[in-house]
Parts: sequence; C-alpha cells; structure tokens
Amino acid sequence: MSLLVADAPELDLPGRSLVVRGPSPLDGTVEVSGAKNSVLKLMAATLLAEGTYRIANVPRITDVGLMAELLRAVGCKVELPAADSDGPLVVEVPAEIEPVAPQGVVDQFRASIEVLGPMLARCGEAVVALPGGDDFGPRPIDMHLQGLARLGVEAETVDGYVHARVQELRGGAIRLDFPSVGATENLLMAAVRAKGTTVIDNAAREPEVSDLCEFLNKMGARIEGSGSSTLTIKGVDHTEALRPVDHSVVGDRIVAATYLAALGIATGEIVVTGVDLDHMAVLCGKLSDMGMEISAEGESIRACVSGRLSSAKFSTLPYPGVATDLKPLLVALLSTADGVGSVTENLFAERFRYVDDLRLMGADIRIDSHHVVIEGRERLSAAKVKAPDIRAGAALVIAGLGAQGETTVSDAHHIARGYDDLAGKLNSLGADVSRC
Ligand code: EPU
Repeated sequence: MSLLVADAPELDLPGRSLVVRGPSPLDGTVEVSGAKNSVLKLMAATLLAEGTYRIANVPRITDVGLMAELLRAVGCKVELPAADSDGPLVVEVPAEIEPVAPQGVVDQFRASIEVLGPMLARCGEAVVALPGGDDFGPRPIDMHLQGLARLGVEAETVDGYVHARVQELRGGAIRLDFPSVGATENLLMAAVRAKGTTVIDNAAREPEVSDLCEFLNKMGARIEGSGSSTLTIKGVDHTEALRPVDHSVVGDRIVAATYLAALGIATGEIVVTGVDLDHMAVLCGKLSDMGMEISAEGESIRACVSGRLSSAKFSTLPYPGVATDLKPLLVALLSTADGVGSVTENLFAERFRYVDDLRLMGADIRIDSHHVVIEGRERLSAAKVKAPDIRAGAALVIAGLGAQGETTVSDAHHIARGYDDLAGKLNSLGADVSRC
C-alpha cells in the first residue's frame, strides 16, 4: 500500500528478505519500544472523544501505519512520528466521525476490530469489516459480539461486514468464556460510555489491557480492577465528556522476550531496556531454570548466557502465563538447547506454520496434537526460509543467529508488522543481519 511507503520509508516491504550470517554471539544494550498490542488499541480508543491526542513511545511498525490509515478513513488526522525523531504520534479526532471501517485496511490486521466498541460508544452505530491478521487458525469475534449484546448492541454480519447499532449503551454483567484480549478491550471501550455499571468477569489481564485502562481513566473513564480478572466500569454519560490525553505506550514484553530468546541461541551478554521485568516474570523464571543469568537493573534487564542452555517444557497461557506469541521463539530457542523440550499451545490450535522451515535448518521437531516436542541440536544450519507471520518470522531470524552460514528469511514484511527495526537492533548487539 502506498501509505506504508510514504509513512515509513525504513520499513520492510513485501518481497524483501533478511539475511542472517551466523553464528554470532550478542553483546550490548538494546532498547525496546512501545508494545504493538497496546498502541493499536490506544489509537482505536481516541475515537471516543474529540480533540488532539499525543501518544509517545510508539514503535515504527507497519501495523501502526495501518491503524493510522483506518483512523484517517473515519475522518481523523494522524501524524506519525518522523523517521528520525522520538516525537509522539498525534491523532486529531473531529467532532463528527464516520463510523465505517472499510475492508482493504481492516482485513490486513487483527486489531482493526477494536474500533467497533469506540464507534458504538461515540455514534451508536458502526460498520466494520471482519478483521484480518496472522493466520494461525480460526480467530472468531463471537465473544466481542456476545459481550456487546449484553450492553444492548444489535449486530449482524453481512458480506464480510459487522453492522452494529445501539439506541443507548447500558451497563451489564459480562462473563467471558475465555480471557480474550481483544474482546476485553472492545467491551471496555464500549462500556466506558454505557449508562450504569458494567462488570467484565474473566477479563484478560495482559499489561497491554492495563495500559488501555490507564489511558481510558486518564480520559475520564471510571474503570476499577485493572490488571485483575474482574473489571468494573462505571459509565460516563455525555454530560461528563471524555477528553483527549497524552500517554506513553507500555514497553513491548514480546519484543523484549525475542531478544532474550536470541541471546539464548547466540550466547553472550545483553541489557534490554524499556520493559518491565514483572511483565515477563514467568518467562524469565523458566529461562533462568534453563541456565540464563537474568537480573533486573532499574528499568532494564541484564541477561547472560555463556554456553548451551538446558532444555525445558513450556505451556502457553493467558497472562501472567507464557504468551502464545512466544511459542515460535521458544521452539527456535529449544532447537539449540541441550536435551528434549516441549511447548504446549493452549490458545491458537494452528500456530505451527514455521516448523517446516526450522526443520530445513536442521531442527528436530515433532508435532503431537497441540504439543511441539523439540530435541535440541548443538548447531543449526543455514537455509532459505519464509516468514509466515510476525513472531514466526522473528523466530526464523533468531534461529539464523545460531546457524552456520547465511540464512535468508523472505517475506520480511510480516516481521515489520510487529518489530521496530529487528535487523538494526540485532546488528547493534553484534549480529550480522542485512536486508535484500
Ligand atoms: N477467541 C474466540 N472468540 C473471540 C475472541 C477470541 O474464540 O471472540 C479465542 C481465540 O480464537 C483464541 C483465544 O480466544 O483462541 C484468545 O484470543 P484473543 O482474543 O485473546 O486474541 P486477540 O485479541 O485476537 C491478541 C494479540 C495476539 C495475541 C493474542 C493472545 C493483538 C492485536 N493481538 O489477539 O498477538 O497472540 O491476543 O495473547 O493484540 C501478535 O502480536 O503477534 C499477536 C498475534
């Protein structure tokens, strides 16, 4: 899309590859930017109130460009930070918005569905195309729609669009079947404007959901229970207008974990800044059991790996468990660890699309239902592989750090959807990664 070229000249575009020359130990400091899975929702939340918002610590990733395009389609002005500046992303929301989110933008990323709640809260109606995003099996939105129905919303899906309407949002009791991140966030953004009190039980507890709660509360919302499984939202009616705010996005724990997994494969010593160790406590405990030395230094994480790590068993779970997004990265990590390890996937049944490519690199991986069993190899070998989605693409790049020779990861544009200059940051740690 032209917007990607215009807004983000440094990003990887379709057809580009990353070439990793390994093996190379890592050494140095890497700064992690704001979380993709927070900033996209904060951008959606701006639709709740007219005015100018400034969002800092925004990652330079293509999904931010897509959300900017979506907000522009609705009538907002969006200014992305200049390529060479640390300035904020600025969103100007007009007095009237057009509550229609068209296919073409929406079907390119999952977080696009998050405009549904704010549009309903602001306009009482919304027409939103069904979202796209990474393909790891069915990704329904039934919990979003069932929860909205509890707030009085009537919705039907016709020709790939959700048509939703509500006379007046009213608070209600919602119990989610599963702590869905996206459903929790959509419901939060609708409930802040509902008449009366909404309680969301079995809500998602991810730090990115808490970041959204903080953003909404700064706007004037009244949300209690942030970070817990029960969120209570006292609706703010139109006489107590919500207002635009400035906010800095929470650090990206998944990107931070990517650098720790890279270290586990490549060995060396790194400091990861810009992320809260508490947001990665379970993962860091496991990495420590495997032999990685990890310590908190103020707002930074220092990690050191001097030899081959021991294998381990992981299980993906909603926060505070080990995130499903880490699965490909952990499979890559275990491919070079000592012994037999496993990763059990409990969220997305079909998150396996990178396994054949890791096998091409010499990894010994067996899939048994939703378990992946990995027998570690001392060294992987270079190969030509293809990024199927954001995290799996990053996993193939870090696997390349532990492989002898030149690994080419094609379709690198998937990686650029969620990683702010992965190649440049790995190079700053001493890796040899180039674009072609
Ligand atoms: N689910 C339903 N119905 C729904 C919603 C979800 O059955 O209405 C199921 C999903 O199919 C899945 C589980 O519930 O099995 C959890 O899905 P969730 O709604 O939590 O995921 P999401 O909001 O679509 C976000 C992240 C994903 C991350 C998941 C889980 C964004 C934009 N995406 O997706 O991140 O894997 O939560 O933590 O926030 C990524 O960053 O690479 C990525 C894919």
